Amino acid sequence: MPHDADRLLPAAPVTSLDDHLAAGGGVGLERALSLPPEEVTTLIDTAGLRGRGGAGFPTARKWRGVQQTAAEAGGVLTLVANAAEGEPGTYKDRVLIEQEPYAFLEGICIALHATGAQTAHIGIKEKFTGPVTRLRAALNEITAAGWPGADRISITTGPDAYLFGEESAMLEVIEGNLPMPRIVKPFEAGLHATTTVPNPTIVNNVETLTHVTSILAHGADWFRQAGTEVSPGTMVFTVVGDVASPGVYELALGTPLRTLLEDIAGARDLKAVYSGVSNAVITPALLDTPLCFDAMREAGVGMGSGGFIVYDASRHIVDVLSVLVNFLAVESCGQCNACKLGNGAMADLLARVQRGEAEQTDLEALLRWSQSVTDQNRCYLPVGSQLLVGSTAAAFVDELVATVASGSPTPADLPTPLIEAIDEDTGEVRYHPRYHLKQSDWSYADEEPGALRLEALRER
Ligand SMILES: Cc1cc2nc3c(=O)[nH]c(=O)nc-3n(C[C@H](O)[C@H](O)[C@H](O)COP(=O)(O)O)c2cc1C
Ligand code: SF4
Repeated sequence: MPHDADRLLPAAPVTSLDDHLAAGGGVGLERALSLPPEEVTTLIDTAGLRGRGGAGFPTARKWRGVQQTAAEAGGVLTLVANAAEGEPGTYKDRVLIEQEPYAFLEGICIALHATGAQTAHIGIKEKFTGPVTRLRAALNEITAAGWPGADRISITTGPDAYLFGEESAMLEVIEGNLPMPRIVKPFEAGLHATTTVPNPTIVNNVETLTHVTSILAHGADWFRQAGTEVSPGTMVFTVVGDVASPGVYELALGTPLRTLLEDIAGARDLKAVYSGVSNAVITPALLDTPLCFDAMREAGVGMGSGGFIVYDASRHIVDVLSVLVNFLAVESCGQCNACKLGNGAMADLLARVQRGEAEQTDLEALLRWSQSVTDQNRCYLPVGSQLLVGSTAAAFVDELVATVASGSPTPADLPTPLIEAIDEDTGEVRYHPRYHLKQSDWSYADEEPGALRLEALRER
């Protein structure tokens, strides 16, 4: 998968700290430690780094905001590195960790220095056994080598739940609880916050922190040599689905979406593309949109964490929508009624259309649920369902209406695009093999009810 634009993806896996240092690693941390902390943040600000975890939020602004809360309201400032990677269609964080864990860990050490955070926690799924093993070994190496900050980094393994990656739910898991999003966000009330001590917490994605290392090593101007004015640098994208060459590709931001999907991944006869499950559908008319946070938003879609799921003209749009909405219905935690009920109702209605048993009034009900599913939401999950259903219904209204009118079942042959692994040599993509058995209480149909692995939360 190496490519000309690669800055984060190494040509070959970096298997030891010596390899990392020989390839120029360590320079970023050395430079950071030679600067006052605020100057490190200024460098990240000048580079224009934006978070790669989904929202594209400016990293320096996040760091400064949390520091201000800590200064004004008190408590311990903590850093959390989000390696949950639960977004359907996304696989890049695991590739970064398996191929170059030292650059990610170096970014954490730099962020500890820049922000004054006392400790850093990496939240990663227990089931990602390869990346977890790699990360533990690399952390041991940098600790033994005496890297400043390394002895204040710990790894928390968590459950196989989408919400584990939601930042406030990740704090819950680190505290030993289930991944239930909080009303208050981490920058206001962080790890072990109390009513009097907010302990604000910074949450950053793996890729974001890995870019921090290269910005410190090479400078803000170098970072801006790739990308656009408002979305500088490169981003590591994942493409799966109906493409000839699925995989993980690093590209300069601003590259047209068409280049990634058609020229690189080999998509043909494309019908609908989804950047995870939190954004509107991308139709062929939008393929010339630049891969830039703002340009994508202006086009009415989003980039998410850079994972694209491609469906070609052979697919039935009802099957596509059903598999994505069912994922959100299962993963919703149920703390907000409109979210759990609304997502469940939409999944049931779509299943009825798939069986050929629906009436036109069911489509109207689907749209009504999509409007109310976000009522009093604690987290962003149901906004995703609202965008998916609203945009897909608008773009494919004729197909939806005709499917219901025909009364015929659809093929219903699509897997939930939660990536288990992508074979780098063959390009073969393996999806979560048991997702079809996952139920809305997060247990699996072939297991005891409520079998969400609590021991995964307890393992430290
Ligand atoms: C339902 C849900 C799931 C999420 N899953 C992830 C995830 O797996 N990994 C991730 O980095 N961010 C995920 N996020 C976004 C995080 O909440 C958070 O915004 C991000 O880690 C911030 O990092 P950044 O500023 O570096 O982008 C998720 C958000 C939501 C609402
Ligand atoms: S909005 Fe949905 S997923 Fe988020 S906290 Fe509420 S019920 Fe849970």
